[in-house]
Amino acid sequence: MKVKILITEPIHEKGIQMLKDAGFQVDLKYNLSYNDLKREIQDYQAIIVRSRTKITDEVMGLALNLKIVGRAGVGLDNIDLESAQRRNIKILTIPEASSVAVAENVFALLLSLFRKIPIADRSMKEGKWLKHELMGLELRGKKLGIIGFGRIGREVAKRAKAFDMHVMVYDIIDISEIANKLGVEVAPNLSYLLRNSDIISIHVPLTPETYHMISENEISLMKQGAYIINTSRGGVIDSKALFNALKSGKLAGAGLDVYENEPPKDLEAELVKLENVVATPHISASTIEAQEMIGVMLAEKIIDFFHIKSD
Ligand code: MLT
Repeated sequence: MKVKILITEPIHEKGIQMLKDAGFQVDLKYNLSYNDLKREIQDYQAIIVRSRTKITDEVMGLALNLKIVGRAGVGLDNIDLESAQRRNIKILTIPEASSVAVAENVFALLLSLFRKIPIADRSMKEGKWLKHELMGLELRGKKLGIIGFGRIGREVAKRAKAFDMHVMVYDIIDISEIANKLGVEVAPNLSYLLRNSDIISIHVPLTPETYHMISENEISLMKQGAYIINTSRGGVIDSKALFNALKSGKLAGAGLDVYENEPPKDLEAELVKLENVVATPHISASTIEAQEMIGVMLAEKIIDFFHIKSD
């Protein structure tokens, strides 16, 4: 009997084709509700998801045939890892493929804020010529504080240096060797980084420890008129505190790709409408290059897994 793979969020067609060519039955079901998922999952040996599908303990409890959750990307906050381990369900991720895509979107957001590109573009489309109103800022000489110095944080640092920025980094693990190699300053603690950065960019996973790690208190430590960029997970920042800081002028601007609720609702829906916010719909990893690499690498890992099993 064919191994059945359920794909609940789009991955690159090359990856899908590789799975089909390897003899798997591949079913694409992109708009499943949570209840639909609980029913559907029972039939499958593998599921491929991105960040929207929630693979909870309840879902895995019903997935009696499930051997693999393939996460087409990095973050694991939508998967109950403890439940997977207990049930002997393997989690396959592709953490290395999207770092450049995310790092580039950090600068897309930052330059959009600094040069007011969305406002300029909107005004041109409305037939306006705001040459004197749209004064911008340069990245050169600004201090960028990077929270989380893993793969993505490092790609951000490299690009920041090319813009002649000063880079300061903070992580909970010892990063001195790699920081030295890349020629960036290591902050002794988070408060120091918050107090001394003109711009903060966040690159940590969402865990119970990082939930709301940037809240009212942390924002109060930041420089008056600082900027913040979040391409990690919405839950790392307390949206209410961010909204208030952007309204009061404590923070000059925010570039946001991720939200506590996706799509944003209630206060976050208002947050993305602020003039000093540039917002994108969780697309930092969505480049053709990154998605092709993720699709192909994930397909290879799944093929390996089932072939090893059946040998
Ligand atoms: C990731 O964790 O890989 C990214 O947030 C992108 C995504 O898969 O949606």
